[in-house]
Amino acid sequence: MKIIVEKNYEEMSKRAALEMVNIINEKPNCVLGLATGSTPEGLYKELIKLNKEGKVDFSKATTINLDEYVGLSGEHSQSYRYFMNDRLFNHINVDKSRTFVPNGLAENIELECKNYDERIAKLGGIDIQLLGIGNNGHIGFNEPADYLSMDTHLTDLAKSTIEANSRFFDNIDEVPKKAITMGLGGIMRARKILLIASGASKAEIIAKIAEGKITTQVPASILQVHHDVTIIVDEEAGALIRK
Ligand code: F6R
Repeated sequence: MKIIVEKNYEEMSKRAALEMVNIINEKPNCVLGLATGSTPEGLYKELIKLNKEGKVDFSKATTINLDEYVGLSGEHSQSYRYFMNDRLFNHINVDKSRTFVPNGLAENIELECKNYDERIAKLGGIDIQLLGIGNNGHIGFNEPADYLSMDTHLTDLAKSTIEANSRFFDNIDEVPKKAITMGLGGIMRARKILLIASGASKAEIIAKIAEGKITTQVPASILQVHHDVTIIVDEEAGALIRK
């Protein structure tokens, strides 16, 4: 694992944007695995800026997101499809028909999950997968459990995830309890993984995934066995890393 500590959120975002831009410039028809949440907002702003300045071109790229809440339509302001359109896709020259987010309203969720994995395979796999991290060590919505799933699947959100994400909703009862998430197989098959984290609340989990034991109770710890992982953190999130 390569760990890069940047001074603050802004520098972390810029550095992460650069990593992604390098991939897109090397391979214009690349497949970008994307994440939602607060952490990548700065990175997406930076990508928009670089796109407007002509420093990166998304016209041939394909994007595939990690997850989506079950029960929310793409028009719902808290759905991840809405988030991606609003924070990135509406502002760059990506072809929207090549941006993929699981359908949270799919009638047959099992089929939706199967099709999602088949889509990734048909695309030739993911060139770079961007990840945030939950305080409990989840990546995508692969929550701590005795067993972890490789494939895209329907999952119950952990109580701590529902609590953490309630900040985006009017009240906690409105937070969906289930989500569709790419599994650890989909994430681990990505050719390159870029995980970003910021703020003191992420310091403990970052130290755990970088230096702790590999356990299903900390799903992101599995990243230790991937051959090309870069973790970019700000000083606060990196504060408890010993090396
Ligand atoms: C989002 C996702 C989640 C978040 C994680 C951190 O698509 O898959 O794993 O990356 O919950 O969220 P923030 O960045 O809001 O702390």
